[in-house]
Amino acid sequence: MPDKVTVPVILARKGGTKLTMVTAYDAPMASVADRAGADMILVGDSMGNTILGFEDTLPVTMDMIVHHTAAVTRARPGALVIADMPWLSYHLSVEETVRNAGRLVREARAEAVKLEGGRKRLPMIEAILAAEIPVMGHLGLTPQSIHRMGGHRVQGRQLDAARELLADARALADAGVFAIVLEGMPDALASVITESVQVPTIGIGAGPSCDGQVLVFHDVLGFGEGRMPRFVRQYAQLGEVATEGLRRFFADVQSGAFPTNAESYHMDETAARELRNEQGD
Ligand code: KIV
Repeated sequence: MPDKVTVPVILARKGGTKLTMVTAYDAPMASVADRAGADMILVGDSMGNTILGFEDTLPVTMDMIVHHTAAVTRARPGALVIADMPWLSYHLSVEETVRNAGRLVREARAEAVKLEGGRKRLPMIEAILAAEIPVMGHLGLTPQSIHRMGGHRVQGRQLDAARELLADARALADAGVFAIVLEGMPDALASVITESVQVPTIGIGAGPSCDGQVLVFHDVLGFGEGRMPRFVRQYAQLGEVATEGLRRFFADVQSGAFPTNAESYHMDETAARELRNEQGD
């Protein structure tokens, strides 16, 4: 069993061997990610789209994230487990933000939390850090801002917007976040940010220069529906494997090929005969 990945381990990997992160929402997914060698498991609010059937991440609640994070941590992964803070769980007041981050650690046993946004979230980030909870930042295409952005659009293509994102990244790193997810931004901007901050950057649709990469479990393993963004590379087709497996199961049920004698439980033959005879009386 490899050593437990901790926040200091992640920080020490800045500029070194690339960091790997994938989302997971339950114990079996966490075990699969862990066995494959993930450095970090993110219990992302992408669960809204991937497993809960919503169109975006906005309906995801604290209770949902607590429920799924607890399932992930019960698998006892060696990877660092980070729980996403859902929309409106860190926007209303500093006090409520810390209480919510605390729930993710105390009730769900998360080891860090992630939240979206730059300088305007600094008071919340500083308060969570002051409560001894490590924070991962998230900049660029932040899905909880879908309505402000007018959809899932690449951010920071223009010089002014790129400068703003760079200033956000520096401010988050100076505040003490242990890593920053850079999502949906030009590779050149992600490269400048990565060189400018002292903490690891984890890219998703942000090019190859980041200190690590993250993808959503269902996307990278081909278990999702619909068109994939260009930054997704699929390494398996779990959806097809699962559909084909179930098709064969149903066909065997209907042909009588399942279950066989070896797949059934048996009783003493005399008792079985007597039972059948009693029905004939
Ligand atoms: O919710 C999520 O899965 C995420 C990743 C895409 C970074 O925030």
